[in-house]
Amino acid sequence: MRLELCDHTDPKIAQEIVEIVKKYYPDTAWPLTLEKLLQSKVKYYFAFDGDKKIGMSGIDFKTPTLAETVKTVVFKEFRGQGLGEKLSQAIEDECRSQGVKKVMSTIYTFNHVMVAIKLKQGYRIEGLHPDHEKEGFHEYSLGKKL
Ligand SMILES: CC(C)(COP(=O)(O)OP(=O)(O)OC[C@H]1O[C@@H](n2cnc3c(N)ncnc32)[C@H](O)[C@@H]1OP(=O)(O)O)[C@@H](O)C(=O)NCCC(=O)NCCS
Repeated sequence: MRLELCDHTDPKIAQEIVEIVKKYYPDTAWPLTLEKLLQSKVKYYFAFDGDKKIGMSGIDFKTPTLAETVKTVVFKEFRGQGLGEKLSQAIEDECRSQGVKKVMSTIYTFNHVMVAIKLKQGYRIEGLHPDHEKEGFHEYSLGKKL
């Protein structure tokens, strides 16, 4: 699994990121737009398995040593082959290589696949956020010290 940093100031790449988020996070209460992306400090990465682009992930630095990983997506046609697990590991490794000491992410309680991946990789449930983004959408906060 290889991650490639996206230059979201490139309009074509920015559009691609916005489309991915729109497609895979249709329920979000705060959809990503081109305007928001340009102002965002989140670093987005495209993920490659060999030469195939299979997904995306992002890092949102809260402090120089605390980061939230966001928008970790494996495109539909590549799911169920262990790539989600590899992508989760790759973005954690990327955080570590950038000096992060504590990594976390928030995941919907009904997203059993991602919750299972994170628990398997040593994350612990550190919090529950009921009705976090919107009514009925409860999220776990999962964290790991690196
Ligand atoms: C979450 C996501 C990245 C997983 O990708 P994936 O490539 O299908 O995941 P994997 O193939 O690596 O599967 C991971 C594990 O989950 C397990 N799993 C599958 N369905 C499961 C379920 N319903 N409950 C629990 N575990 C499940 C798999 O068996 C596998 O574990 P194993 O290797 O021990 O058998 C993908 O579904 C996705 O992109 N979803 C949309 C975006 C999203 O929700 N991102 C996470 C929050 S930001």
